[in-house]
Amino acid sequence: MKYIKIAETTELREGSKKKIVVEGKDILLTNIQNSYYAIENTCPHMGGSLYEGDLDGTHIVCPKHGSAFDVTTGKLVEAGKLLFIKLKVRDVKSYPLKIEGTDIMLGME
Ligand code: FES
Repeated sequence: MKYIKIAETTELREGSKKKIVVEGKDILLTNIQNSYYAIENTCPHMGGSLYEGDLDGTHIVCPKHGSAFDVTTGKLVEAGKLLFIKLKVRDVKSYPLKIEGTDIMLGME
């Protein structure tokens, strides 16, 4: 696995998020209680940008139809609804991170 610098810790205050494109992949980077997490930014349902959603604790809510994901694991927390029908949505990919000094490094296969 190779690690690529994607940001510096000084860029993300506690409780904030940042969208980054690395090697053609959209990544959502978050700072939760001064730990950093990276997940796929694109909602697997219909491509909503999770970065545009609300971050509430460790949950990010897709702005399109309301599916919620845990930013620390990428797991689906609650499927959204479309015309009162619960959606079938998969988890999003979670990426390993390494902190070197103030550099946030993202692990890619
Ligand atoms: S696009 Fe995210 S829930 Fe539909």
